[in-house]
Amino acid sequence: MDDTDRKLWAAVDGYVVEKLLASDPPLDWVIEASLEAGLPQINVAPNQGKLLHLLVRLMGARRILEIGTLGGYSTIWMAQALPEDGRLLSLEVAPRHAQVARANIERAGVQERAEVRIGAALETLTKLVEDGEAPFDLVFIDADKENIREYFEGALKLSRPGTLIIVDNVVRNGAVIDASSQDSGVAGVRRFNQLLEALAREKRVTATTIQTVGSKGYDGLTLAVVAGS
Ligand code: SAH
Ligand code: DHB
Ligand code: MG
Repeated sequence: MDDTDRKLWAAVDGYVVEKLLASDPPLDWVIEASLEAGLPQINVAPNQGKLLHLLVRLMGARRILEIGTLGGYSTIWMAQALPEDGRLLSLEVAPRHAQVARANIERAGVQERAEVRIGAALETLTKLVEDGEAPFDLVFIDADKENIREYFEGALKLSRPGTLIIVDNVVRNGAVIDASSQDSGVAGVRRFNQLLEALAREKRVTATTIQTVGSKGYDGLTLAVVAGS
């Protein structure tokens, strides 16, 4: 992938956004507010946010768990797909990110549905399991890539048969197939894929991974549905 490829992917994303996202609630201000607050621009792309929104609707999800909030961009896309009495819990380790996200969630008017909980997600997840939190219908894993495997295990414990678990950033410019990669994120994705392979063999999940290109470069998403007991 050279610069020409990247420019083309971004241009096509721009075209798709112009054609298909114009009628959606405008959320560009969330990205702008997050940028102004100094947050890194590692939110999902607009058309990916809308994919999350569609998946929430397709699932008829009422309870969503998100791991990795940042400025709340993906959070708001998903929360806007929830019914009035739906709930989204988003886990975030950086208090500054959580603060920006809470302000954005409020401004988007979804504060009754979306809550940000501050803490290291491994700990928060353990606490949720211990506290007997009811199962979630959909989980979006998008925090640090080193712990994706553990987040997926936590998500499984907080799931029911039919729960959809979505994992972001599982291709990483194609580096996912490099067993000798020194990148801890890539190693994290590979460790996750070992687990997923075993779970799929045991028919505990049905999963696939789709590579994506666009304004956010070359990466990918895993979708996994939890099997019946
Ligand atoms: N889902 C967001 C982007 C999340 S970026 C969106 O698409 O809009 C990843 C986020 O995960 C960052 O805000 C980072 O602070 C957070 N994070 C990193 N390590 C974490 C951890 N151990 N526990 C919880 N959140 C973590
Ligand atoms: C990074 C994290 C993400 O969630 C993402 O979508 C892209 C990049 C990162 O940590 O670099
Ligand atoms: Mg991501």
